[in-house]
Amino acid sequence: MARANEPATSGLAGPWKPIQVIVGTAAAATAAVAAVSIDHVVSDGERPGEPSQADGPQLVPSDGEWVPVAKSADLGEGSVLPFDLGTVSGFVRRVGGKADAVSGVCTHQGCKLWFDGAADRLRCPCHVTSFSPAGQVLTHQLPIAPKSLPHFDVRERDGNIEVLAPRSPTRPA
Ligand code: FES
Repeated sequence: MARANEPATSGLAGPWKPIQVIVGTAAAATAAVAAVSIDHVVSDGERPGEPSQADGPQLVPSDGEWVPVAKSADLGEGSVLPFDLGTVSGFVRRVGGKADAVSGVCTHQGCKLWFDGAADRLRCPCHVTSFSPAGQVLTHQLPIAPKSLPHFDVRERDGNIEVLAPRSPTRPA
């Protein structure tokens, strides 16, 4: 008979094996449940035709400058105007009296968006994705929804709407 401090011998080895298998199975089952749960959450927000919920990130260049993109008088409530500064492009709009601007580059693979005024949305010509003027994905046909469009910092000064854009690169002559 084994003493209390000795490891179990052949008589006890049998019952330990099934316990290890059960633990392994339980862990696998837990992982499978977690995987199903995560898959469900991801696919819930990313089916074609369902808008994404999150606002896009703020686009803040490390070396930026305020650049006019439109006259304040030209941007009435609810209107949307495109701009292209070379380094960045986007769309500026006015909502609730405030100017807002989003990137004009699709977050899927970088195609240039255009504004469909009749449908009040930004459209990507490459893979049939559309965004709201606020930058949220409205429709797509991709396996995974692209991200929302980044927003620029915007201000109004002296009758102009300005965005904080990266400085133009200086190239050697
Ligand atoms: S680049 Fe816009 S949806 Fe693919």
